[in-house]
Amino acid sequence: PNVERQRQRFHQFRAIRPSTRDQLIVPQGFQYDIVATWGEDIGNGEKFGFNNDFTCYFGNNPNEGVLWVNHEYIGNLGMYVSGYMGEGQRTAEQIRIEKYNVGGSVIYIRKTDKGKWSIVRDSRYNRRITANTPINLTGPARGSEAVNGATQVIGTLANCSGGKTLWNTALSGEENYEGTVKNWSTPENPMDITHYGWIVEIDPLDPKSTPKKHTALGRFAHENAAMTVGKSGRVVVYSGDDANDQCVYKFVSDGTYQRDTGKQNSQLLEKGTLYVADFGSGRWIPLDIEKTPALREKYSSQAEILVNTRDAAKLAKGTPMDRPEDIEIHPVDGSVFIALTNNTKHGNYYGQIVRLVEDNNNHESTTFVYEIFASGGPQSGFACPDNLAFDTAGNLWVTTDISSDKLNTGAYKPFGNNGLFMIPTSGANRGKATQFASAPVQAELTGPWFAPGEQTLFLSVQHPGEETEDPRNPTSRWPRGDIPRPSVVAISRK
Ligand code: FEO
Ligand code: CA
Ligand code: CA
Ligand code: CA
Repeated sequence: PNVERQRQRFHQFRAIRPSTRDQLIVPQGFQYDIVATWGEDIGNGEKFGFNNDFTCYFGNNPNEGVLWVNHEYIGNLGMYVSGYMGEGQRTAEQIRIEKYNVGGSVIYIRKTDKGKWSIVRDSRYNRRITANTPINLTGPARGSEAVNGATQVIGTLANCSGGKTLWNTALSGEENYEGTVKNWSTPENPMDITHYGWIVEIDPLDPKSTPKKHTALGRFAHENAAMTVGKSGRVVVYSGDDANDQCVYKFVSDGTYQRDTGKQNSQLLEKGTLYVADFGSGRWIPLDIEKTPALREKYSSQAEILVNTRDAAKLAKGTPMDRPEDIEIHPVDGSVFIALTNNTKHGNYYGQIVRLVEDNNNHESTTFVYEIFASGGPQSGFACPDNLAFDTAGNLWVTTDISSDKLNTGAYKPFGNNGLFMIPTSGANRGKATQFASAPVQAELTGPWFAPGEQTLFLSVQHPGEETEDPRNPTSRWPRGDIPRPSVVAISRK
């Protein structure tokens, strides 16, 4: 029976109730331990960054492997990170500290005999990517006037969600870069806004590798990058632009995926077509200066279109959506699940999850149909869907992102703190959410990722205590009882 219990995957659990407690709550029979915490020594003289988001595990060993973690932003918890208290300009030193705390971490992690995960500090893989790391540009905008001639840029930031490539590298979405660049740009150290808002590719398994920003995938507030392959072998990457009335995109490579050439396939992300979704006609419209004549009214090069993707998408009549967040591809039927988190401008407070089906189930198709798979609200039990992940049985795991300042007020009162939910995509309970986890006060659960074999679920606890105004009196003291500390946890059965 012991072995049997171990084989039980995550989807059989007793639902928890919404909670407002300052704890990470998981169902009866489950436990969590902290894999990595903000500020922790990761070896090589580096420290784990702030506000962990997307996590992505590499390797087939369920008990040890490399974990890539995004570090999205500083927010008003800068009072702990850099001492910045939200009045006036940051000092050069504060900017230096904040730049170090975003980007991402590569950590080698292992489960000990006692079942607890921790960082293997002397691993050669451990390293930080920060807002100071040199990153190469690829694709049509590389070296173009539209990026002021840059072939290499400084750093990555606003790294929200992401994805894994077919060749075992991580993709990281630069999301809300605008405010961050503004906060950190000074007359002495100006930052070029056109160098941010891209999809970044990192190779966590090659410690010497230089990350890349792939300009062919467009520049906008990239939530994520969900990769799959079409029927003729072209690589397809879906990405949402998380802002009110922004669009859903997909990139289709010109070349085809060759399994045996491994990481050389990265070049596929340098040449292809970027499409924006028109949900009215069910068409993918190419944001391509040759194929869509309307774009020539405003733009004279493909590089310009890619750097100004949002505006180009509107000109091409892409459909404005209610904040497209994460996108995931169903492991069984290949349909595309898109989280629309909310759009308070339109009175959409709870959000929806859209299921898009490409014609002929071919991800290279330029036509599609869609349905609303699930709607947030007090009846369904969740609100503001954000990150998505599938287990191998095809259950959808959804984290929610009710803004910290709106939690437990007004329309959001029934939901308690943010959470993690499971929604079956087939069977009698199709579309019905049950709650698996509840976040500490003012935290968001992000980056759900199953280890191989699905005995462990990695999860980020991001921005606990985000509404803290006095650092001596934080609104959350998770996880150690002193100050709030964003951390990555590993959840497993007891
Ligand atoms: Fe960083 Fe769209 O969540
Ligand atoms: Ca997100
Ligand atoms: Ca995801
Ligand atoms: Ca969000």
